[in-house]
Amino acid sequence: MKTEIYQELKFDYINHDNEIIINQELKKFLKNHSEEKYFDNLSYILLEIANNANKANLKRVHFNKMALNIDSDSDYKIGMNNFIQKLNQDTEKYFTLVKKTGFFVKIELVLKNDVFKILVTNNNKILSTEKDRVQQRIKLSTKFKTMDEIFSTGLDTQEGSGFGIILSLLIMKKIGLDKSFFKLNESEDATTFEISFPIDVLNTEKNNILTIALIKEIEYVPQNHRRVILLEEYLNQKEFTIDQIHDVIERDPSLTCDFLRILQSNASLISNKITSMKLLWENLDIKILKKFISAYKLNKIYINDSNLKLIEYIKDHSFEVAYYTQFLAKTWNMTELAEVAYLTGILHDFGKIIILSISKEIIKRIEKITGKKEFYSFLFQDLTDHYKHSIIGERLAAKWNFDHAIIDAIQYHHFPLEATGNKELVYLIYMADCIYYYLRNKLEYTDFESEILEYFKINSQEELDSICDQLKGYIKENYQIEIEA
Ligand SMILES: [Fe+2]
Ligand SMILES: [Fe+2]
Repeated sequence: MKTEIYQELKFDYINHDNEIIINQELKKFLKNHSEEKYFDNLSYILLEIANNANKANLKRVHFNKMALNIDSDSDYKIGMNNFIQKLNQDTEKYFTLVKKTGFFVKIELVLKNDVFKILVTNNNKILSTEKDRVQQRIKLSTKFKTMDEIFSTGLDTQEGSGFGIILSLLIMKKIGLDKSFFKLNESEDATTFEISFPIDVLNTEKNNILTIALIKEIEYVPQNHRRVILLEEYLNQKEFTIDQIHDVIERDPSLTCDFLRILQSNASLISNKITSMKLLWENLDIKILKKFISAYKLNKIYINDSNLKLIEYIKDHSFEVAYYTQFLAKTWNMTELAEVAYLTGILHDFGKIIILSISKEIIKRIEKITGKKEFYSFLFQDLTDHYKHSIIGERLAAKWNFDHAIIDAIQYHHFPLEATGNKELVYLIYMADCIYYYLRNKLEYTDFESEILEYFKINSQEELDSICDQLKGYIKENYQIEIEA
């Protein structure tokens, strides 16, 4: 017999603290059923509906407070005129009133016969104008295929709910559900929004709304102010050497990445994909450099100073990983990959740099677009989350038209076995990255994917250690870096 798993949460109102509780409970629920991967998408939808139900209750409190009849068309117009404004001014008071009145928002999470259901109920009857609005939005949502389309139409987000429903439906579509999985049940004294997800129709869509919003907002890689000034100083000197310029850029993944972006996303500048530093230098002329340095200065696209130290650490790490790839490519007879591996080594963690560099303005803008207030904590709650920085890196590298092999290596450098193409480069970057941490005792031999070890014919820890010893010698001799565990 199939069992039913049921969980109920009930709130007087939905504020930020309660949103956190809802998220925690949803995460636990999904985790218990190994469906955690849908958390980001489902959390967005659930909070969206819960907030709509909450708003419906608060709306009624507002009408009572103003002594207006919500069922009268003329009163409805008057009441709605200043509802949002009053609510924002006096949120706590409205919460107290909603509690006093006995209104609530109930959330039910149900898993039965491999169908996962989310029900959100408020104890008020939905008005026909509210219902029309929802239906209109549902209809509108079928016109959109991508988040991009929604973002670029600049829908009015003033009332929040319309935009949220469209996005929710689109997310549902992305995880394999059409609008028939979205139901509205009404009675005299309650309204319930219900979404059901047959577990087996959920596919593995990796997008989540916040990542998409982020990718859309990032147009360039923010830079370290000091390095930009240094570059400019060199360029203004009469007798600068091109090596000086190369050195500043190459030692900095953000600069490397951004110059690659400039070249690669501008088809008139270059016809082929850039797969090595050498090609980057060949295509990057002084005029372009100067033009973009003034753009950095003008637009102040600098990194978030509060994370400077961590960003510098990632830069050093990336540069060192790039070195390792040179030794490893030679050791494993993959010299034809050495050039692209070096460039990829420098770039592989740039998703992390982006996350750490994001300015408050961008965060605010994304929070406005998505209607989600905890974007900042979403990004930073777990920076070591490999999935997040590799996906953000991969999406941006794709948006900026980088070479396919580089995009793959950025995406899969923590999940090498998931790669389907360009495996050699992915595996090489994976090994160089892991060895960096292994040499610092932050990774054990058993943490390496055994299939990848096998691929490189490493059969024991002794064999890995022997490669590492040679690598240390190579790094010391060629780059004067001494690795201390
Ligand atoms: Fe990484
Ligand atoms: Fe890394």
